[in-house]
Order: sequence, then C-alpha cells, then structure tokens
Amino acid sequence: MKAIKGWRLGKINYMQSLPGARHRAPTRKPVWIIAVLSLIAMFVIGAYMFPHHRKAACYMFSSKGCKGLTDWLPPSLREYSDEEVAARVVIKEILSSPRVIKKSSKIAFMFLTPGTLPFEKLWDLFFQGHEGKFSVYIHASKDTPVHTSRYFVNREIRSDEVVWGRISMIDAERRLLTNALRDPENQQFVLLSDSCVPLRNFEYMYNYMMHSNVSYVDCFNDPGPHGTGRHMDHMLPEIPREDFRKGAQWFSMTRQHAVVTVADNLYYSKFRDYCGPGVEGNKNCIADEHYLPTFFYMLDPTGIANWTVTYVDWSERKWHPRKYMPEDVTRELIKNITSIDAVSRVTSEKTGVVSWTHCMWNGIKRPCYLFGRKFHADTLDKLIELFSNYIA
Ligand SMILES: *[C@@H]1O[C@H](CO)[C@@H](O)[C@H](O)[C@H]1NC(C)=O
Ligand SMILES: *[C@@H]1O[C@H](CO)[C@@H](O)[C@H](O)[C@H]1NC(C)=O
Ligand SMILES: *[C@@H]1O[C@H](CO)[C@@H](O)[C@H](O)[C@H]1NC(C)=O
Repeated sequence: MKAIKGWRLGKINYMQSLPGARHRAPTRKPVWIIAVLSLIAMFVIGAYMFPHHRKAACYMFSSKGCKGLTDWLPPSLREYSDEEVAARVVIKEILSSPRVIKKSSKIAFMFLTPGTLPFEKLWDLFFQGHEGKFSVYIHASKDTPVHTSRYFVNREIRSDEVVWGRISMIDAERRLLTNALRDPENQQFVLLSDSCVPLRNFEYMYNYMMHSNVSYVDCFNDPGPHGTGRHMDHMLPEIPREDFRKGAQWFSMTRQHAVVTVADNLYYSKFRDYCGPGVEGNKNCIADEHYLPTFFYMLDPTGIANWTVTYVDWSERKWHPRKYMPEDVTRELIKNITSIDAVSRVTSEKTGVVSWTHCMWNGIKRPCYLFGRKFHADTLDKLIELFSNYIA
C-alpha cells in the first residue's frame, strides 16, 4: 500500500510541477550514467569470471567480442575438462610404450581411392621380392577396383562414401588404420592416393620409415584465412585457436600414433561437428587438412617430423596441385624431386609468407620424399620404363 501510494504521489507531483520535457533530462541523467557504468562493470566482471577460452564467454560477448577479449585480457590458464584430462592420460600412456622393430615388421600401405588404382603395375614392381615386409589395404569409396597386381587382390576393406573436405575423409582414414592395426606386425602406416607413385626402391623406403623415430605428419602454422581463419569458437575450449594447425593429409605414422588416432573421440568430434565447407559463414574448413596436424601438434609435437614423405607440386599456386602428364615424366624430373632436402610453406596471409625447413632424419639432413603425386594414369608406361633406373 505504501509503495503504491508513494508512486502515485510521485506521478502526481511530476505531472503537476514538471509539465514540459525541458526538465526531464536533468533528472534522468544520473540514472543513465549509473546504468552505463554498471553495464561496463558487469562486462568487466563477466570477462574475468569466464576465462576467455570458455564457450560461455563467447555466448556472452559474440565471437568478435571473444577475440577482442583475448587481446586485452591477461592470459588465463587453459582449463581442461575431465574428458580432456582422461583423453590426454590415455594418449600419453599409449605413446610411452616402447617401439619394437623386428625383422618381421611390416609397413601398411593404405590406399584411399574412388575405384581402380591406375598404378598397381608399378607398385607390383616396387613390392616384388619383399613379401612379408608390407601389407596392402584399399578403401575404394565409389567403385569396386579392377586389379592388375596380385598384391592388391582381396585387399579391399569395408568402405563408405567420401566427400572431399568433410569428416567422411577422416572416417575413411580411420577405417584404414583400424584394419591395418589388426595385423600386429604392421609398424608403420602410410596413407596413399590413387595418383601416388613410389619414388625410391623398397629397401630405401623401408629403412627410411622403419628406422625413423618420428611420424611423417605435415604440420605448420598458417595464421591466414585458410589456416587459423578456419578455426571455430565452437571448438573451444579443447582446441585453442593458437593450437590450430594445417598440413597435407598424406601421412606416414608409427603404430603408437595409429592407435591414438583411432582411439581419439574427443578432438575428432570437434572436427566432425565444426569443420566442413560452409559450416559457419564463409569458412571453408577442410577436416583432413587440419584434424591430424592440430591433434599431433597438441598431443605429441616432438613425435612428428612436420612434413610428409609424399611430394606434391603447389608451385603453380592454383586451387589444385600440378598433375604430371606423360610428357613431364622424365629421369630428370624424378631426380629433381628425389634430391629435394627442404620443404617450403606458404601461408594464406595477403603477403604469403614463405618459409623453408630442412628435412632432418634422426638428426641428419636427408632427402624429404619417398612418394610423389599427382601423376596422371597415362604416365604409367613412362614410369615403368624409368622404374629400373630410378628405383635401383
Ligand atoms: C615439429 O614442430 C614442433 C613444433 O611445432 C617441434 O616441437 C618439433 O620438434 C618439430 N619436429 C621435428 C622433428 O623437428
Ligand atoms: C630440374 O631442376 C633444375 C634445377 O633446379 C631445373 O632447371 C630443371 O628445369 C628441373 N627439371 C625438371 C624436369 O623439373
Ligand atoms: C629422434 O632422434 C633424434 C636424433 O637422435 C633426437 O634428437 C630426437 O629427440 C628423437 N625424437 C624422438 C621423438 O625420440
């Protein structure tokens, strides 16, 4: 009753003594100042209460605000969820198991292809005489392959459709790894495409991979729009923006790394849900270019070489890498590629920063590449002709 009376009195007073709008501003001003000040105070308290890596902070202050905050707030320690702590413990345990290389150790060749592999005849020459030191797995996502080599017959695994840039590409890689892991003798796992060819002989390749203490996973920091620009706030807090990495998908990894890759669900699910062409605005996140580089950068940075043993020519700076035609395939080309001993990286920033890194193998500078892509199917005869020379 009292309150209502007071309100009524106030209203009557206002109506009676302050008829014009003239007096409104002076009486309201302090209220506005208080409102603005308390909003600022709330913002600041909120910003400190919610560490800026947390999703909550991003819901409160939009993604742009989130970036703004990261820039002017003091760095806070990243909080690990129970799930992430558990994932890290399991991964650390797997990685600490010793690597045992025996005479019977095999290299798993995992082919990711839409259908028939055009270079089976060349691979057949490559594998000949090395039975027991390799195994072949084929993920054919479209058509049933027609084989021209005995080493490839009945080596298809159960496959599914693969959509470029989508998580289905990673799913196919995981399927290949899972199948290859079933053979305990497989110690190295190489992912290859239908346009890949061997550039060295089998012994060279085998010794290079078996006696190396790292996995060949391509990984670099691209702060531009096609690198860190593809990171999404939804990937937080497990995947901080500054840990987002990029690299070509064609890896070669140790058994321990293959196990942690198929065991991972936490980081994988972030890429499955938030990395794909057009998932957010105009961001074209390509799962296979970011998942494994980011995963290994975060969990075992010193366990990877940061480059891949599969050569590709991006020098034309087009949307797709160069594809070699029969007229390009010469002894000189193969010699040139196999003598490369440093890798270059180009970021997607406006200035396109180029950096070079030497390929170090167990602490020694060595040529970088064992395989090459992309070769047109018509180069098969040329490559077979050259094989006895360059492979020797
Ligand atoms: C790969 O890069 C990481 C940092 O991103 C570094 O710690 C690691 O030593 C590099 N690997 C090799 C073999 O040099
Ligand atoms: C091989 O490398 C040399 C020297 O860099 C270059 O002049 C030549 O054009 C290259 N040849 C091929 C076929 O790539
Ligand atoms: C690999 O070997 C090099 C040279 O012996 C050594 O410096 C490096 O620490 C090793 N890396 C790992 C992951 O064992």
